[in-house]
Amino acid sequence: MADPAAELQELGRAAGAHGEVTLRRRTGPDDAEVTELIVDGVFAMDDVDTSTEQALATETLRRCPAEGLRVLVGGLGLGWTAATVLAEPRVAAVDVAELQPALVGWAADGLLPGLPALPAERLTLHVADVAVHLAGARRNWDAVLLDVDNGPAFLVHHSNAGLYEEAGLATALAALRPGGVLAIWSSDPVPELADRLAALPGTADVEHLLLPVQRDGRRFDYAIVFARAV
Ligand SMILES: C[S@@+](CC[C@H](N)C(=O)[O-])C[C@H]1O[C@@H](n2cnc3c(N)ncnc32)[C@H](O)[C@@H]1O
Repeated sequence: MADPAAELQELGRAAGAHGEVTLRRRTGPDDAEVTELIVDGVFAMDDVDTSTEQALATETLRRCPAEGLRVLVGGLGLGWTAATVLAEPRVAAVDVAELQPALVGWAADGLLPGLPALPAERLTLHVADVAVHLAGARRNWDAVLLDVDNGPAFLVHHSNAGLYEEAGLATALAALRPGGVLAIWSSDPVPELADRLAALPGTADVEHLLLPVQRDGRRFDYAIVFARAV
């Protein structure tokens, strides 16, 4: 019998203040190459189906009709959300806050499948905790896209819990320009997060968008929650 571990090719591994991060490649069932990201012992993602990481970008930008948009992406991951934001010509500047310095280095080395080449303009990668990045800014971005966990109920780091509590959400909203959109990705439906956002002062147009995905013959309902800062 084939050893599944033998088919894993490690592209990078690094330990740091926020645990170990591993980037590895495996061969999928149809012989397609699949890249996986493991963060602090937690499976963060692979690129079997990146439609919802891309939808985080497209669905948010669809709700931001202006030109010259400034966007913050929380969590670089394999680069799909950041690359999809960059593909929109109405976006003037993209900041990405990523906790793992190694991942930012691998992006520079062209190892991330979603973002194989870093553009010389419009993109700034910050090695930073997105919560700290948000707290240091007021009225700065037209969109803030958060995909740093598998969702509020399945954290990659326990220290991220505050992002989804009232104070953390209020900080994210305060970092948006008036009319700007906060969007939060989750691997499970999170109607309670939408309710929490709707109850905060200064929010409008709260939406809970379900995104069904088929994987290995099973249906998964991923979700994105949107809220507009007024
Ligand atoms: C699921 S991946 C993001 C996937 C990304 N949307 C994409 O399209 O590839 C989550 C990322 O968030 C990062 N992360 C986790 N907590 C963070 C935090 N507090 N601040 C910044 N980045 C964080 C992880 O290191 C990981 O790279």
